Amino acid sequence: MEIINVKDGLSRKEKYESLIPQLEALVTGEKDLIANVANIVAGLKEVFHFFWVGVYFVKENNGREELVLGPFQGPIACVRISKGKGVCGVSWESKEAIIVEDVEKFPGHIACSPLSKSEIVIPVVKNETVVAVIDVDSTRPGDFNETDKIYLSHLAKLISQMI
Ligand code: SME
Repeated sequence: MEIINVKDGLSRKEKYESLIPQLEALVTGEKDLIANVANIVAGLKEVFHFFWVGVYFVKENNGREELVLGPFQGPIACVRISKGKGVCGVSWESKEAIIVEDVEKFPGHIACSPLSKSEIVIPVVKNETVVAVIDVDSTRPGDFNETDKIYLSHLAKLISQMI
């Protein structure tokens, strides 16, 4: 039986520090990318109860690259995002993690749900190229900070090693 065991009452940093080694152990020895990403996303949802957690992959479509929805937890979401569009597309284009405290103030933010108030997007970089992004949404404004950036970047690295 696969169980994630992260105690209640810990700080967010402590929760990441407890969760990440468990996720690393879970994906070690399993080579199926989608299964591993699905479990990473499910682990984040289970521990932090984020409104939406998912990964978009860069894929080619008619000779053009775009972000395509991959494993996620939460309400249904937009399937395709162009480079430079929305928080995800800007993170892809700039190769930078983006923390959005108030999505209404981010020009071009793509609202998959009106309930989402803040967001963090982390690029997954392989050989200096963005191959995917991790996207997390919260119903609380200003829910994400440098702690999330540090630990989600660690998970982005884990995903990039599997691609
Ligand atoms: N808000 C994102 C789109 C994806 S959903 O949040 C799941 C964006 O602006 O890129």
